[in-house]
Amino acid sequence: MFSPDALKDRVVLITGGGSGLGFSMASRFLELGARVGLVGRTPARLTDALARLDAGDRAASAAADVREPEEVATALDRIEADIGELDTVVNCAAGNFLAATEDLSPRAFDAVVRTVLHGTFNVTSDAGRRFIRRGRGGDFLNIVTTYAWTGSAFVVPSAVAKAGVLALTRSLAVEWATYGIRVNAIAPGPFPTEGAWKALMPTPEVEAAARDRIPAGRFGEHEELGNLAAFLISRAAPFITGECVTIDGGEWLASGGEFNHFTRLPREDVKSILQRMRGG
Ligand code: HXC
Repeated sequence: MFSPDALKDRVVLITGGGSGLGFSMASRFLELGARVGLVGRTPARLTDALARLDAGDRAASAAADVREPEEVATALDRIEADIGELDTVVNCAAGNFLAATEDLSPRAFDAVVRTVLHGTFNVTSDAGRRFIRRGRGGDFLNIVTTYAWTGSAFVVPSAVAKAGVLALTRSLAVEWATYGIRVNAIAPGPFPTEGAWKALMPTPEVEAAARDRIPAGRFGEHEELGNLAAFLISRAAPFITGECVTIDGGEWLASGGEFNHFTRLPREDVKSILQRMRGG
């Protein structure tokens, strides 16, 4: 599908790029010829990520907490000094944990919402000003989740923050189209990462139940997300903006439809029930 130079000459910033899905996207973008800058909170993790990417001067990193606008500005300056002026930003940095909402402290709510929503705003507004000033357009890709529109019990700070990021995506797609800036989102279902699994899959039983909810019968593979992200930021998709593409093996839709539970029965049993209903 992709030529090895599909992202040649592109300069991509990825927040949360030191680990998890951010790291996997960085790796895929590098394979396709991009230069990549990683931003994350933990310097040691960034150093380790750069070593694993092994991309020489096509990759750089800068430590910053996306909750702090000044740290974001400094990090973007450093990355641009190392790999050139950015044309693309992937907002992937996130915080999350399972908690009963009545037990959350205000600081706990803040820890997630300020990372996900304020962090995305801080990075997007800073990079957006750079793109607008330079007049060459740009691309944003925001990583949300399917419960951005359904909501979800036990992850309320994450759900409200991701809903905000989705609204920001659609709002800016319209507001900044005049500057040649596209703003899209991806809503992944469960993709195994160390961070998300530690925070969200407390036991093997919970993990098995999560897998069982997915009509495709499996979790996502990182390469699948990397390919979708590469397409959305690429020059193959210039008319796509304000879109949120779901990549979840059918998971979130399966939780809705009235008769979806029939899929849990052997298909032959379903067919014989339906045949009997027709009087056959
Ligand atoms: C309740 C918690 C808590 C928990 C922290 N807090 N963890 N409260 N349950 N499990 C509270 C603390 O008690 C404190 O409040 C406040 O949050 C701030 O804690 P800090 O440790 O100082 O915060 P900080 O280090 O800034 O951030 C904590 C964090 C972050 C948000 C948990 O470390 C984090 O998210 N790490 C995981 C990163 C990650 O895995 N990201 C991927 C998410 S995957 P008090 O009042 O006590 O001071 C994802 C996709 C979901 O989001 C989709 C799946 C399908």
